[in-house]
Amino acid sequence: MYPSIKTPTLKIIILGLALLTLGLSGSIQAGDEGCVTCHVGPMALNELLAKNEAHPDVSAMVNTIPTDCAMCHQKGTEMALMGIVHAKHEGVDCASCHVVDENNMPTSNKTGAKNW
Ligand code: HEC
Ligand code: HEC
Ligand code: HEC
Repeated sequence: MYPSIKTPTLKIIILGLALLTLGLSGSIQAGDEGCVTCHVGPMALNELLAKNEAHPDVSAMVNTIPTDCAMCHQKGTEMALMGIVHAKHEGVDCASCHVVDENNMPTSNKTGAKNW
């Protein structure tokens, strides 16, 4: 649906705008939809994953994010989603992806319907 982005400069501008928007809209509130709150438009996960030619096309098989990713990225395996996702989001507030308790400790994962 969106044209693929080829130039690194454009990519950086878009990322900058995305981060700026996030900054302006304040911290992400509990009750939102986790991954798909941030990964929209050119940053939608189907767009990002399609850039890795080794990644299977999961656009149709995945419906709930990130729950359905775990059909392949299972807990306790080398492919576990936790390891992959934590490594790519250092510094991102736990509450962006997790439902947290009063001490900001994760109690479960936020989920959302795929946005493509
Ligand atoms: C607070 C906003 C935010 C949330 C929530 C978020 N991400 Fe991200 N994510 C980002 C940003 C910003 C990047 C860096 C984008 C880039 O490198 O092009 C990123 C990068 C990624 C990448 C790496 C893309 C690449 O090309 O290497 C993956 C995969 C990813 N996120 C998956 C997820 C998943 C799965 C979730 C939910 C569990 C999630 N993200 C939640 C903001 C977010
Ligand atoms: C049908 C199985 C399958 C599903 C479903 C799946 N993946 Fe993958 N994923 C793979 C395979 C296989 C690889 C290894 C490909 C490679 O060599 O890079 C991989 C690799 C990745 C990587 C690169 C790992 C790294 O070290 O950087 C990311 C990021 C990723 N997947 C994210 C996701 C996300 C997010 C979802 C859900 C939207 C998802 N995957 C759903 C099979 C799957
Ligand atoms: C960008 C999204 C993202 C952020 C930010 C994030 N996590 Fe996670 N976390 C995940 C995903 C995805 C999983 C794997 C869920 C699954 O496999 O069911 C996970 C799993 C976990 C687990 C394992 C839960 C279990 O049942 O096995 C713990 C503990 C955890 N995270 C703690 C944290 C803490 C503490 C922070 C903040 C410092 C944090 N996470 C930030 C996405 C995130």
